Amino acid sequence: MNHTPVEGFSKLSKEQKIDWLLQEYLNNNEDYKKVLEQYWNEDAALQKLHDEFSENTISNFYMPYGIAPNFLIDGKLLALPMAVEESSVVAAASKSAKFWLNKGGFKTTIINTEKLGHTHFILNVEPHKVLHFFNFKLKKKLFEATEAITKNMRNRGGGILNIKLIDKTADLENYFQLKASFDTVDSMGANFINSCLEQFGKTLKEEVSKNDEFTEEEKNSLQIVMNILSNYTPHCIVRAEVSCKIEDLKDDSGISNEEFAWKFKQAVTIAEIEPYRATTHNKGVMNGVDAVVIATGNDFRATEACAHAFAAKTGTYKSLTHCTIDNGIFRFWIDLPISVGVVGGLTNLHPLVKFSLSLLGKPSAQELMSILAVSGLAQNFAALRSLVTTGIQKGHMKMHLLNILNQMGATEDEKAHFVNYFKDKTVSHHEVIDEFNKMRNQ
Ligand code: MEV
Repeated sequence: MNHTPVEGFSKLSKEQKIDWLLQEYLNNNEDYKKVLEQYWNEDAALQKLHDEFSENTISNFYMPYGIAPNFLIDGKLLALPMAVEESSVVAAASKSAKFWLNKGGFKTTIINTEKLGHTHFILNVEPHKVLHFFNFKLKKKLFEATEAITKNMRNRGGGILNIKLIDKTADLENYFQLKASFDTVDSMGANFINSCLEQFGKTLKEEVSKNDEFTEEEKNSLQIVMNILSNYTPHCIVRAEVSCKIEDLKDDSGISNEEFAWKFKQAVTIAEIEPYRATTHNKGVMNGVDAVVIATGNDFRATEACAHAFAAKTGTYKSLTHCTIDNGIFRFWIDLPISVGVVGGLTNLHPLVKFSLSLLGKPSAQELMSILAVSGLAQNFAALRSLVTTGIQKGHMKMHLLNILNQMGATEDEKAHFVNYFKDKTVSHHEVIDEFNKMRNQ
């Protein structure tokens, strides 16, 4: 079937949008409309709030919102809110939390909190002349021109920390950057940083045009290409760690503490030297990080991009977590670069985000960084613990069992039967289906 492009879709009402979709793509099948409508909230004001988060909203997309309790983090016992669809993530987090609960829990350190952004520009002027112009004229003007934008942030203890000129002409002809670092205190700071940078672009243009040390031709060569924050924040880092004596590292799978510690460390080392494994290893870390990032209304695409860029900082993609065994002490840690906020964005709007932040005791942005790093480390610990002992499928498929049964249309009694049947066995997809069909045919 050929479809026709639509004009002014965003201006249609929600009902008109759905009618258009049904007509154009769904054979006017009203059942699809019911699918969308069943997710609308009865509370019209709450629905409107969600509708206004994004353009062209026609329904809500649910994700399970779960709790991983028993996280002892820097001496505080927390229950972590996690929004994630993967069945085993919350269970894995809870298991890890419990494992470390009586071993001193998780300890965290904020290493630094600097955010970055750039004005990327092209200027056909000798680099030493650009540097002179920057040092003796431009830099001061950039701070002055952004004073109104930075006032509130400065009152909260943040602002622009520094601005540097970076000569990138060796990589791209006539390419320079204004590289600025920011402290955005409790906000993620994207709007603040981008507003400062856009002002930098304007001020740069004005100051270049006024600068009598440049020829007219040089002045005319200026092109502000773009002003934008960087989601790579290698100087906004939190460390989370756990440690214990090998003798306390008891795993219930039957292997000795020494063998467990050794295999676990080997697994981390493999992820440090082998990018294929590191990718899956870090994906597991981000299972834990993202679920809490989403539950607290932060931007998981930003945290993902940053973590993976950091993992590749040496030119080889590596594990985000590390492990040592020294003098009988097992130590496992993560250095996670992560930029998040507890004010601004969705944090004061989305009722479940507000709930998450209250549940966590209204953390500062730095405390939230710590919680997120712990969640990533705990998730990675649970994955490696399974991988080097029972294998991942035992726990994974146990949690996935209900999804398989729901797909087959199992009743509550049938589900209870299967949960019991697989209590001591590793669930496999084909065995569930075979057993289910046998049971139905009897
Ligand atoms: C699955 O979502 C994540 C794991 O594959 C992570 C890992 O292998 O470390 C279990």
